[in-house]
Amino acid sequence: MGYIVIFMNHAERSLPRIQQERWLFPDQAIKEDYQAVYKEGNTLLGWPDGATRIFEHLVREKSVAIIGAELGDEGKGRIVDNKIEGLLDIPGTIGVYVVRYCGGGNAGHSVEKEDIKLALHQLPSGVLYAEVIGIMDAGMAVHVGNLREEVEMVEAKVGDTRGKLVLAENAILTTDLEEAEEILNRVLQGRAKGGTGYGIAPSYAHRLDRLGLSVDDLIANDWEKKFKDHYDRYELYFRAFGLNLADIEIPDFKETNSQKRAVSRTVGSREEFLSRTAVLRDWLISRDMVKNTFLLHQGLIRDLRYGLLFEGSQAIGLHPYLGTYPDVTSSDTSITGITTSTKVFKPSDIRDRIGVFKITYTSSVGARHLPTEVPLPKNLNDLPADASTQQLWAAWVRKTAHEYGTTTGRPRDILRLDLPLLQYNCNVGGIEVLAGTHLDIAQEDQPIQVCTHYRDSAGKTVSYQPGLKYQENVTPVFIELPGWDGQAVAQAKNVDELPENAVKFLAFIQRRTGFPIIAATTGPARKQLIAFPGYNY
Ligand code: IMP
Repeated sequence: MGYIVIFMNHAERSLPRIQQERWLFPDQAIKEDYQAVYKEGNTLLGWPDGATRIFEHLVREKSVAIIGAELGDEGKGRIVDNKIEGLLDIPGTIGVYVVRYCGGGNAGHSVEKEDIKLALHQLPSGVLYAEVIGIMDAGMAVHVGNLREEVEMVEAKVGDTRGKLVLAENAILTTDLEEAEEILNRVLQGRAKGGTGYGIAPSYAHRLDRLGLSVDDLIANDWEKKFKDHYDRYELYFRAFGLNLADIEIPDFKETNSQKRAVSRTVGSREEFLSRTAVLRDWLISRDMVKNTFLLHQGLIRDLRYGLLFEGSQAIGLHPYLGTYPDVTSSDTSITGITTSTKVFKPSDIRDRIGVFKITYTSSVGARHLPTEVPLPKNLNDLPADASTQQLWAAWVRKTAHEYGTTTGRPRDILRLDLPLLQYNCNVGGIEVLAGTHLDIAQEDQPIQVCTHYRDSAGKTVSYQPGLKYQENVTPVFIELPGWDGQAVAQAKNVDELPENAVKFLAFIQRRTGFPIIAATTGPARKQLIAFPGYNY
């Protein structure tokens, strides 16, 4: 079966009918793809000739969405950074708006420029660029105390950010109380891990039950009454479990960040809570960043002087409905999150919808254990003497790619690249093309296992279905593909300089998923990115 046939189906969105058949009855199709790439050298990468873009005539020029296509931590911050540079290079562009439309402090985006390295949580990436304005939009859950600390950390390194940050007046507010609720929820659910501790799930839950606060509640003149009532309600709730709210330990993210280990503090009394809130309110008002972003977006949809970048956080695999439920986050991490957050831009307005994935492996943090995971001890020194080849490979990946959490340094789980998950996420998550990261995480003599499909207990091929319940009952089928010299990748300046097996690996993923891979990163530096033909990356 020809590649173009598959891709044209994808491009026309008439469905991947053929593609879907190929996924349901994959054995022959995998052989064909392997034969085409590894035996016949058909290594098409990037946008195929003749494929048409959907909705091309309707899109808002210079608009890009960057979305996590796996389970988070794919390197989105890095791709955002590259894309900002690309947008600024377009003649006539006077600036770029970077819009965070989901999540909150649970995100950890690392950005680098020259000697400056920043670990961002709530701030949109791009603060390192003079021409970027970052919008923390209505789809986010924002903790103002943590925001202030983040702004101060960034300003200590890059200077004043006044005028460069916008916070939506209707963004969901997270306070110490929602963080305390998350701690209680962990006990109620009997799950030690669960969420990240940033109060994300309770904050979004209270959006739905209408008990939560938003940024304009903090700015309002009657803020004190609202926050007092909020505290009192929480106190009653905790008392019902025999707990004293003031004594509940919540994460102290400032100390956690500086000490690189989990540090906590107590919620404190209502008076303490209100006086802390008053200080934060004064700070927020003094920064003059709270705006009606709906009106801003209405202007931006027509103002082509600006590039627009929608920065996703977390990933489609962590989406509350489309992801690994119950171990998922709570905001809309797919492309529709842009609509619900901005209330102006719909998916078809956005020109480039880029899914980011890790090329040679996948990482995951949380309680979830997926069938593609390679079991590893927390501390790599505890790796057993009889560790399997896969465990040695996963340990090497964790160490080499530094797969430890941005804030706490918590080790991440290492999984094999999961093509069914990747393809599913792209299909339902509104992705059009893929950008891969970490192409340099490979070794010459070390084959790479890739999950091509799943089988049930009777050995029947089953399609990927989101949710841990379904994932627990399937067995992944792996193909082993040849590795390559990661150091050579790190040196490569263009596709011709990449090791042949790296190109073949990418081409195989492109054929299997049906989504064009338009770029791959070859190392941590901004310049270490190779764009593939046919797409104006
Ligand atoms: P929450 O978003 O804090 O409620 O966490 C729920 C789940 O999502 C946990 O498994 C987290 O580890 C995961 N999660 C949330 N944000 C991220 C992220 O930015 N990267 C990776 N995992 C995340």
